[in-house]
Amino acid sequence: MRFSFAGPEKRLTSDGEKESGHQRVLPGISHHVCPTLTRSCFFTFCALEMSKAGALDLASGLGGKIEKDDVLSAVDKYEKYHASFGGLDEERKANYTDMVNKYYDLATSFYEYGWGESFHFAPRWKGESLRESIKRHEHFLALQLGLKPGQKVLDVGCGIGGPLREIARFSSTSVTGLNNNEYQITRGKTLNRVAGVEQTCSFEKADFMKMPFPENSFDAVYAIEATCHAPDAVGCYKEIYRVLKPGQSFAAYEWCMTDAFDPNNRDHLKIKAEIELGDGLPDIRSTRQCLAALKEAGFEVIWEKDLAKDSPLPWYLPLDTSHFSLNSFRLTAIGRFFTKNMVMALEYVGLAPKGSQRVQSFLEKAAEGLVAGGKKEIFTPLYFFLARKPQIES
Ligand SMILES: C[S@@+](CC[C@H](N)C(=O)[O-])C[C@H]1O[C@@H](n2cnc3c(N)ncnc32)[C@H](O)[C@@H]1O
Repeated sequence: MRFSFAGPEKRLTSDGEKESGHQRVLPGISHHVCPTLTRSCFFTFCALEMSKAGALDLASGLGGKIEKDDVLSAVDKYEKYHASFGGLDEERKANYTDMVNKYYDLATSFYEYGWGESFHFAPRWKGESLRESIKRHEHFLALQLGLKPGQKVLDVGCGIGGPLREIARFSSTSVTGLNNNEYQITRGKTLNRVAGVEQTCSFEKADFMKMPFPENSFDAVYAIEATCHAPDAVGCYKEIYRVLKPGQSFAAYEWCMTDAFDPNNRDHLKIKAEIELGDGLPDIRSTRQCLAALKEAGFEVIWEKDLAKDSPLPWYLPLDTSHFSLNSFRLTAIGRFFTKNMVMALEYVGLAPKGSQRVQSFLEKAAEGLVAGGKKEIFTPLYFFLARKPQIES
């Protein structure tokens, strides 16, 4: 999973004041729970001291729109979709809405606590912080799309809108975020208000397989690590093609298996299954399948590249337990140990719903799978392409 030390910053309002979300949900709680402190609660307090708002917001957001009493059974149902629990990819594809929404209801709070407002990886230069690399990766898309002030842009699978706010401000465009997860949209709207971008940034709750926009609506479309959730890439790209104006561009970062992936290698298959379970994916397509799907949908591919290939620092570095960084402390082995104990304690004292530790552990599996997939170069989250809808449809 994606842990960083971004939690405290994200809760600052544009005036630099802290949001008081934890007071809203947890009035006077700490005094009542002190007598029941266990050893793991000690670790919890260490972590809370480091990031009070982050930790308590993590607890209050856990489960997203799922009723707190239903979180445990949602975790059960979610896990059963996946290979290590006997699930089949056909079932995941047929039930993608339920599977992906359960995943994001369960995982969003962890994402935000760990990774900040943008839920994606990035290639990284030496001397560049994780946060800087994430923003640069967003700016790169804006540059490739050639965004101009006043244009109408669509962000497909926008999360809580970190990239959308950044790209709108960077390029002076209006960006609509399409997302099928209600909890993330609610959170995104709050963050838009905090950032003061409600005039140019908006959200639409819908499935990217059936978009609620007329054809030829947008001057540009992008997707960041989102269309990997689609049960069918051609169907998804065709929808993007339909809503894009002729002659305009679509750019994306896709999660893919590379040419080094061997479907007959059990170790490779195990890594792929860990990533699918830990990241809510029906199946991970190869770079070649994505490219073929783009062409089948009608796009002209301008250029494409796995950006992981020449990244000076590997994209998975923040998740690698052998790496230590004070700037991204929560990602380190020790930081993850704190988080694990903190979640255990929060669940024990009833501040986090039952099932929270199970979510934390499948996200931990995801981190292991991602690092192993990255090290073996069989998986990349950085498959970039720029494609154009022809001016005159052939
Ligand atoms: C890994 S997150 C990336 C979010 C965002 N692009 C970012 O980089 O911060 C994937 C996003 O895709 C959204 N998503 C997945 N399936 C979707 C679907 N069928 N329709 C619309 N959004 C979807 C999820 O809800 C989530 O917001």
